[in-house]
Amino acid sequence: MKKIKIANGIHMLTMNVEDILFEGIWEIANGVTLNSYIVQGEKTAIIDGVINWDGVPETLYANLEEIGVDPQNIDYLIVNHMEPDHSGWISSFRKIKDDFTVICTEKAAKMVASFYGEDKIRVVKEGDTLDLGKGKVLSFHPVPNVHWPDTMYTYERETKTLFSCDMFGTFGRMGDHCFDDELTSEETDFFESEGIRYYSNVMATFTPSLRKAIDKAKALEINIIAPGHGPVYRKNPQKIIDDYSRFSLYADGAGKNEVTILWGSMYGMTKKAVNFVEDILKREGIKYNKLEMPLESESEMVATVFKSAAIIIGAPTYEYNLFPPVAAALNELGRKKITGKTAFRFGSYGWSGGAEKELKEIIERNKMNWGFIESVEFEGAPKEEDLKKVEAGILELIEKMREKIVNRI
Ligand SMILES: Cc1cc2nc3c(=O)[nH]c(=O)nc-3n(C[C@H](O)[C@H](O)[C@H](O)COP(=O)(O)O)c2cc1C
Ligand SMILES: [Fe+2]
Ligand SMILES: [Fe+2]
Repeated sequence: MKKIKIANGIHMLTMNVEDILFEGIWEIANGVTLNSYIVQGEKTAIIDGVINWDGVPETLYANLEEIGVDPQNIDYLIVNHMEPDHSGWISSFRKIKDDFTVICTEKAAKMVASFYGEDKIRVVKEGDTLDLGKGKVLSFHPVPNVHWPDTMYTYERETKTLFSCDMFGTFGRMGDHCFDDELTSEETDFFESEGIRYYSNVMATFTPSLRKAIDKAKALEINIIAPGHGPVYRKNPQKIIDDYSRFSLYADGAGKNEVTILWGSMYGMTKKAVNFVEDILKREGIKYNKLEMPLESESEMVATVFKSAAIIIGAPTYEYNLFPPVAAALNELGRKKITGKTAFRFGSYGWSGGAEKELKEIIERNKMNWGFIESVEFEGAPKEEDLKKVEAGILELIEKMREKIVNRI
């Protein structure tokens, strides 16, 4: 666990977590940080006391003491969001101290009570404040459905610090550099990419609510954004606001200037066309990613499709339907409400086909509104004329994707 001073009277405790499935689903290949913040005036508040994941509350207490905080002197535990990665420590803390107050939204209060049996709770609403003394005044700003209904921002007025919880978070383990101005350009790229993974895996379903949260952040005067996961932004907090605004466009069908081939093949017939497509993309100078299903992790698949301006689906028929690993991937993308992508599908069948019917059914059922170029299906191995049709489809896709490209805001 690292201890970092953010400003006078404000510290961050942060730890890297690896080898877990985030939310019990997402294989986070590059880890994630859990950040807690301590604000000290005459009274002391801890925001998002998260350190239960190692199961050793003493680790947290020892670290608090090193930054001059006696756990016995913590008066307030601010739960921006009840999910246990931000609140799992409440019960351990209650064992050593009886008289601290939990501060959270009404929705979180219900959960804090039902999950941890807490009753010393102060419910806060938009604009409510808590004066800690010595100039430190916190205000509270609910941002519902980021990604739970209970979530809020906490804002410290003197330093203009926004404790944004899951909002503006990223996956990715942190090395020695925790502030945006310390990151090398490789680390900046790493956290942008891990931000895409985080947004697409955890937040994409809630994009309309995230847009409201972005607007709420814009209405505050901010010097520092201190999220629950990932680096702290003190040089240019606008950067992560712009990143999140751009990610919200990716959820609606925009993307980087790259294509993703989402494909699967049982006996290599569809794969022949995939290889052919790769040659065309290389010839045309188009950056592309290849996701072979079911070999790719769900986390990587969702993140890669999410950030792409166009999607190529290569998948055969299986039992009168779409090749199941590709169908499962598309259903997952639908569940994440990744809509409006420009796409093209081709695939092999043995006798009657059926893949195309299920593809349409998945896109419609999930209201994905993907713009498809006419699919190309071929019997058995792709013939010369099939490949010609595939090439025409790819060239049309490349043309159409241009209006979807958003690299920077
Ligand atoms: C388990 C299995 C189920 C299949 N089900 C169908 C089917 O319902 N309808 C059809 O037209 N072809 C079906 N096929 C044939 C495949 O679609 C055909 O072999 C195709 O060339 C596979 O392409 P691939 O080598 O890219 O996987 C099935 C093949 C397998 C192995
Ligand atoms: Fe969360
Ligand atoms: Fe979180």
